[in-house]
Amino acid sequence: MPKPGGASAVAHPNIAFIKYWGNRDHLLRLPANGSLSMNLGSLKTQTTVEFDRQLKTEQLRINDKDALPEQVKRVSAFLDIVRQMAGIEHFARVDSQNNFPSGSGIASSSSAFAALALAATRAVGLDLSEQALSRLARRGSGSASRSVPAGFVEWRAANTDEDSYGSSIAPAGHWALEDCIAIVSEEHKAIGSSQGHKLADSSPLQAARIASAEARLATCRQAILQRDFAALAQVTELDNHLMHAVMMTSRPPLLYWQAASVAVMHAVNDWRAAGTPACYTLDAGPNVHVICEAASADKVATQLSEIPGVVRILRSGLGGAVQSLD
Ligand code: DP6
Repeated sequence: MPKPGGASAVAHPNIAFIKYWGNRDHLLRLPANGSLSMNLGSLKTQTTVEFDRQLKTEQLRINDKDALPEQVKRVSAFLDIVRQMAGIEHFARVDSQNNFPSGSGIASSSSAFAALALAATRAVGLDLSEQALSRLARRGSGSASRSVPAGFVEWRAANTDEDSYGSSIAPAGHWALEDCIAIVSEEHKAIGSSQGHKLADSSPLQAARIASAEARLATCRQAILQRDFAALAQVTELDNHLMHAVMMTSRPPLLYWQAASVAVMHAVNDWRAAGTPACYTLDAGPNVHVICEAASADKVATQLSEIPGVVRILRSGLGGAVQSLD
C-alpha cells in the first residue's frame, strides 16, 4: 500500500493544429475526433500535491489565491479517480502556479491537468506509464492528454478509456516552430470548452467535421513529419475554420472572434501570400495563435503588435513532456 506524501510536477500547455471539439462520452472525455498539437515550452504550470489525513476538505490554490468553488469541484472529482486508484480516502492540498497570465486564452487546463495527474499519482506512490498518465490527465481535461508526451502529440479518438491517449509523433527538436499568440482580450470567456463540447452536436455541421477529421489528421501528421509548412498551414486553418463554424452554428451559438481576431487572420493570410511561413488557429476564445517558423518569429511578432486591437504578444517554441520535480 503506497504511503501518501507530497510531489511536484511541471507541464506545458499545448496548441492544437487539428482540434478537439465534442465528445462521444462527456464523463470519460472520449473525444468525437482525434487531434494533434504541439507543446508550448516557454509556458508552464507547476503543481504540488500533498495528500493529508488531517485535512477536512480539499485545498486548492491557483497562482497564490484560493481557487473558486467550481475549480475545487473539478479538481476534487479528478483526485477522486487518483484516490480510487491508490485505495486512499484523504483530501489533498494542491498548489498550482502558471508562468503565463490566466484568462489570456491559453488552454491552461491542458498543462494544469497534465501536471496534476503526474504530481497526484507520484504523491500516492504510483508510477504510471506515459500512456496511463495521458489517459488519466484526459479525465481532467481532454487537451491535457496531449500535454503529457513531448513535442508534437496526437491524441487518438476511441470508444474506450483504455484506447484514448496522447502519444508523441515527433520530439520537440524535430521542427523549430513558434507560436506567437496575439492577445486581443484578457477577459474570461462566457462559455468555456467543457460546456462548448456539449453543444457541438447541436450544430448541423459537426457530423461533417467529424467525418472528415481523420483525413485532416493524416495530412497534418504528414506535414509535420516532412516539415512542410505550406501543407501544415492549409490544414491547420481549414480545421480551425471547421471548428469555429460548428461553434457558430451550435445552439446557443458560440462566436469567440473579436474584430481584432479577424484583423489578425487577414494579416496572416497576406503575410503568407507574400512568402512568410505563418498561419493561424484560435481556441475557444478571441486570441489568435500565429504559428510560424522560428526564423520568421521576430518579424511576425513585431508585425502582430502593430495591428490595432492587439494588446500584447506571448511567444513560445516547442516543449517537452510533463516532468516530475522530485
Ligand atoms: C478549442 O480540453 O479545454 O482548445 O476537456 O472540457 O477541459 P475540457 O476541454 P478542453 O478543450 C479544448 C478545446 C480547444 C481545441 C483543442 O485544444 O483541441
